[in-house]
Amino acid sequence: MMIMSASPGLRIGPSDKVFVLTGAGISAESGIPTFRDANGLWCGYRVEDVASPGAWARNPQLVWRFYSMRRRGALTCKPNAGHVALAALEHELDDRFFLCTQNVDNLHEQAGSRRLVHMHGELLKSRCDSCDRQPFEDTALFESTVPRCECGGQLRPHIVWFGEMPLEMERIAQELERCTMMLVIGTSGLVYPAAGFVSMVRERQASTDGGVRTIYVGPEEPANSRAFDQCCLGTAAQVLPGLITVD
Ligand code: OAD
Repeated sequence: MMIMSASPGLRIGPSDKVFVLTGAGISAESGIPTFRDANGLWCGYRVEDVASPGAWARNPQLVWRFYSMRRRGALTCKPNAGHVALAALEHELDDRFFLCTQNVDNLHEQAGSRRLVHMHGELLKSRCDSCDRQPFEDTALFESTVPRCECGGQLRPHIVWFGEMPLEMERIAQELERCTMMLVIGTSGLVYPAAGFVSMVRERQASTDGGVRTIYVGPEEPANSRAFDQCCLGTAAQVLPGLITVD
């Protein structure tokens, strides 16, 4: 693995297909704190009290208070140069580009990204905890009672909690299978299954002559750094705008 403090100038050829994975780090320069920073989102809240099915069963008011706090923050944030660079890359590559984000904010969409999935859900949507009604746009902030669905069930944030299955895994598996380049940005490499995507792609590389390039961008090496060909040390907004040239 090569560690670089300057942008390596990645070239994307006509047959390349790019899989991008983003984590909390890409939204840090938009003012949304990452999870594991000292002032991170879990501060003041224990994960097990607000982000698990058990927490929801025990105290849905506390869960809503936490996610309302996060909604309030996300509603005023704007995309940064990192989000914008990824949307521009999608514009050039079209269906040779795929973005999988672990983030629940909508900053990628605000920047213009369309070919994306939110594997950990979406903060500005809710769904019913009882019926199979589709998740829907919802920017409401919690007041004092847990909102109810027409079916009588309780409305919950459309968020994947610890112990729940991430979303869109079939689509993600297909895109992992076809990519020739993986670009991972701003994620600590600690939370699975996302932290394992880079190794999955490398295993595929070992069994074929696929030649998948794997690049990480962030201010520090992630926990799974050994699985990357290159780590570009710097922030998303600094590194991404000049990183890629499409041939
Ligand atoms: P973390 O908070 O674990 O990691 C954030 C990463 O972003 C760290 O590696 C930082 O070095 C990096 N970083 C900080 N500032 C950056 C910047 N300006 N540009 C680029 N990178 C920067 O967040 P995640 O890895 O996204 O899951 O966390 C993964 C999952 O754990 C989350 O989706 C969430 C959490 O529990 C669920 O809620 C299910």
